[in-house]
Amino acid sequence: MHYRPVLDALRRFDPPHALQDAKGPLINLALNENSLGYSPLVAQALGAALASASRYPSTFCDELREKLARHHDIDPQRLVFGSGIFEILSLISAVFVSDGDEVVIPTPSFGWYNLTTRLNGGTVVAVPLSEHAIDLDAVQAAITPQTRLIWLCNPHNPMGTMVASGALQAFLAKVPADIPVVLDEAYREYAVAPDVPDGIALARQYANLIVLRTFSKAYGLAGLRIGYAVASVETASLLHKVKVPPNVNHLAQIAASAALDDSDFLARSVTLVREGLADYYACCEALGFDYIPSFANFLMINLERDGDEAANVFLDAGIVLRSGREVGLPSWIRVTIGNADENQRVFAVLHQLAAQRPA
Ligand SMILES: Cc1ncc(COP(=O)(O)O)c(C=O)c1O
Repeated sequence: MHYRPVLDALRRFDPPHALQDAKGPLINLALNENSLGYSPLVAQALGAALASASRYPSTFCDELREKLARHHDIDPQRLVFGSGIFEILSLISAVFVSDGDEVVIPTPSFGWYNLTTRLNGGTVVAVPLSEHAIDLDAVQAAITPQTRLIWLCNPHNPMGTMVASGALQAFLAKVPADIPVVLDEAYREYAVAPDVPDGIALARQYANLIVLRTFSKAYGLAGLRIGYAVASVETASLLHKVKVPPNVNHLAQIAASAALDDSDFLARSVTLVREGLADYYACCEALGFDYIPSFANFLMINLERDGDEAANVFLDAGIVLRSGREVGLPSWIRVTIGNADENQRVFAVLHQLAAQRPA
């Protein structure tokens, strides 16, 4: 059979190895999920929504679109919904990337930016991070006449760092208006600081900005698969041309709508993570492990030993997390901030690893 040759250069996007092999119960702190679960309002709404499961969902998420547009005070036509941000990344590449186009990606970053770019024939121009953060000057310097797309992730996965509002605005003012800039704000709700950029506000000013948000993280709906883009009306209509017609299932649409009504749940999700991070910082400082202060719901920690080996020590204790090796920090791990019990179990292993450190 003939198939597109580019596929030979791509690998399957797998979840962490341990999740596939798990035999017993594990605490999953590898995927940056919400350990609080989701709002009770979502549970109620889902119960009632099951009756409509035999019907096709709204192709353009009509009710949710209106509600979310009011929530953000934007034109509903600027919204594009997807089966999570994952799908929207694929739509963006399908719209903007063709053979030989250059696509700028601060690297390392969320892996699907790279894969979906290459799937569409794009050439990845990888721009190294600087002190674990996106280097906007270097991104700007990487722009050439062949550049067709720029992927930014803020707060940044996997590092947890943030580009501040002033720096991002200065950058956007310099990028040529015909180059789309994607700002993936999957973790935006967790970033509590005065200078956190609000992509949706910036997208009013910059028509080439495409802002991505998800219900998977702070809203706790990762299993239902729903996220959205805020873009110009023109870009939104291009994205709608390439999406699968009924791409977001009915239950996801209902759940997202209910989730928007529960600002208390959202606040509790964020507080749990901010408090958990403070506990992590205290634990790491007491044990002498370096870490990258995080604006998201995960933390990078330098264990000063092989990250793969360390991840296996955690696995033996029933905890799945990520080795930093895959993102170029071989002695680090990345852990999702869980609830207090889950965090305590991680701290116990950190103590064990600290005790094994050569004097
Ligand atoms: C930066 C980033 N973008 C997008 C996603 C995927 O989000 P979704 O669940 O909305 O597809 C993730 C998931 O971990 C992520 O870390």
